[in-house]
Amino acid sequence: MASSDVDGILQSLVLSKADLEEISDLMRQNMDRGLNRATNPSAVVKMFPSFVRSLPDGTEKGDFFALDLGGSNFRVLRVQLLDGDVQMTSKVYKISQGTMTGTGEQLFDYIADSLAEFKNEQGLSDVDLPLGFTFSFPCKQNGLASAELVQWTKGFSASGVEGKDVVVLLKEACARKKVALQIVALVNDTVGTLMSCAYSCSDTYIGLILGTGTNACYLEKLSNVDTWTGDDGEPRDVIINMEWGAFGTDKSLDKFRTKFDNEVDEVTLNKGKQLYEKMISGMYLGEIVRLILVKLATDGDLFGGQVSSDLKTPWKFETRFLTDIESDTSDNNAECNTILKSLGVTPSPSDLPVIRRVCAAVSTRAARLSVAGLSAVVKKIGAAELTIAVDGSLYKKHPTFKSNMEKTLKELVPGVTVKLMLSEDGSGKGAALVAAVAARLGS
Ligand code: BGC
Repeated sequence: MASSDVDGILQSLVLSKADLEEISDLMRQNMDRGLNRATNPSAVVKMFPSFVRSLPDGTEKGDFFALDLGGSNFRVLRVQLLDGDVQMTSKVYKISQGTMTGTGEQLFDYIADSLAEFKNEQGLSDVDLPLGFTFSFPCKQNGLASAELVQWTKGFSASGVEGKDVVVLLKEACARKKVALQIVALVNDTVGTLMSCAYSCSDTYIGLILGTGTNACYLEKLSNVDTWTGDDGEPRDVIINMEWGAFGTDKSLDKFRTKFDNEVDEVTLNKGKQLYEKMISGMYLGEIVRLILVKLATDGDLFGGQVSSDLKTPWKFETRFLTDIESDTSDNNAECNTILKSLGVTPSPSDLPVIRRVCAAVSTRAARLSVAGLSAVVKKIGAAELTIAVDGSLYKKHPTFKSNMEKTLKELVPGVTVKLMLSEDGSGKGAALVAAVAARLGS
């Protein structure tokens, strides 16, 4: 077996501490460009002010509806905030490929229909509660309940939505469907995640999503936000939705990208965009692994030189396979074998360690890259101690993603005590909290 190929490929995925420091510095430059009014129009990392000005203080109360759209599942929730305790009832509605890529009208009609069904099933048809909408795509906000979609990500392409205010589109759909709607806030999932964790943990300043996509937000001083167009009164902070997935669109990450990253980008709907996201998040890691396995098999380094038709098919190797393969610690590699058999491949005993090494190299690179970005934010905030609220299936399910992040944080920001805290269900709860904080502040 020509193991030099394997080693060469794996080596191309290794990012040294110096590489990560360079990426961290680049991220910081991108953040500054996004925050500055003169450079923002051409900035890649847009640093959108979320109009959320205050973190929850645990005293928020009330009864809310929330909508959560950000991937192939859409959720409707009822969130009750009672004296620091949160009760939620929710229902998941599948978003089909056709709805993701059809017309905007179909997508928003589907959301309105789902809200109507949920209210009906909960016996709340005639009840009109304030609603928070978690909409996890890059939006330029003009207020808490006004947000223009800049561009779709994560495989969505519904027509007639980019450049429009999605709150208006939702209101129009609800009017068409005769569903009462009292929308008070639109939030990104990172913002929801930060809010939800801050409800119980007061030194939480960063929200991070590592799921189908990736993104981060953090609490910034208004005086540092040159693009701010809202009022200058108290509180003098605002959460910035970084939209860091777009980092690298100006080719600044090209020297760290491999030919496999380029190949993944080629088959996406948003080619050339979201390049940092495409090296980190769950929608893409499986595809990177698949391309490497195909290359190794074609070169005769795996599977006796055979490539099954499933393994040749884009997107067939899902990121959950990578998570399951790396989680499989059994002596007989049962899980690995089952996954590969489902893809029409029978691995030999010597193939298995190679497959594991490929998966580990891809997931470790992703974890380290995410921390390169985080370290720029941590340094900018400048606190000696802080908590990062994290949510997303990749972070929650992968066996070593969190520990790899923790190790890398020690390398890159050794003087800061950083705690990663799982913010379970932040996007649902967070939207209600934003609505509640808005009510508390009377905005
Ligand atoms: C979107 C972000 C979102 C992230 C995580 C990205 O593709 O642009 O708005 O926060 O995915 O869901």
